[in-house]
Amino acid sequence: MRLLYLGDVVGRSGREALIARLPALREALRLDFVAVNAENAAAGFGCTAKIADEILAAGADAILLGDHAFDQKDMLGHIEREKRVLRPLNIAKTAPGAGFRVFPATRGRRVAVGVALGRVFMKQPYDDPFSALDAALKTAPLGGGADAVLVEIHAEATSEKAAVGFWLDGRASLVVGAHTHVPTADARILPKGTAFQSDAGMCGDYDSVIGMAKAEPLRRFVTGMPGERFEPASGAATLCGVLVETDDATGRAVSVAPFREGGDLAPASG
Ligand SMILES: [Fe+2]
Ligand SMILES: [Fe+2]
Repeated sequence: MRLLYLGDVVGRSGREALIARLPALREALRLDFVAVNAENAAAGFGCTAKIADEILAAGADAILLGDHAFDQKDMLGHIEREKRVLRPLNIAKTAPGAGFRVFPATRGRRVAVGVALGRVFMKQPYDDPFSALDAALKTAPLGGGADAVLVEIHAEATSEKAAVGFWLDGRASLVVGAHTHVPTADARILPKGTAFQSDAGMCGDYDSVIGMAKAEPLRRFVTGMPGERFEPASGAATLCGVLVETDDATGRAVSVAPFREGGDLAPASG
């Protein structure tokens, strides 16, 4: 199976580039499944029902949300109705929605998708992502309930993301990091067959401070004083993600490569 994961969609720039390009990318890359993190799609903070619907209509099979999952309050209700949107697994037990589900892919195949938050350098004290992912993956293991397993570890620290990769090696088709909004150059297949990249990067304008228009973050860093709201940068977006091909017999990765298109970063497509 050919799976494309795209990192955090940031603001209108990221959204419009994604929606414009995804239908053609599905064809050109012969994709069987597309997962998109949209936690910053609504003006940089969260995702609305309307935006989630637009991203799904453009050809995403699953939408993932990270620490900004519920910045937009209408997602609290929408995530109960729209099962193709996932919030992190390891937040409050009472949170609406789910953090792991099995999705249909092309030709009757099934892709299990999960997202967990890291704990290192994150603002909230989330539950343990290792045990949360372990429990979820047991409900739809590779070769059991799932033909491929895609896991996003939404975390700040590269070390924690690497640890999750090795923890799930052989049990997931892809473990991909997100949250820093900058793609890393370490895409590879781990010893037991799990594709891994520490961070996928974002779908947004890189002429920015991780997706936000530069002036306000610069002012806050330079002066140390609070000020105006952050606004997403509005220039051309680079779509950033990871492209993986899996062996249908085992669910393990046979190839992995960064994907980048448009905007300021150098293109990459496997
Ligand atoms: Fe993000
Ligand atoms: Fe995040």
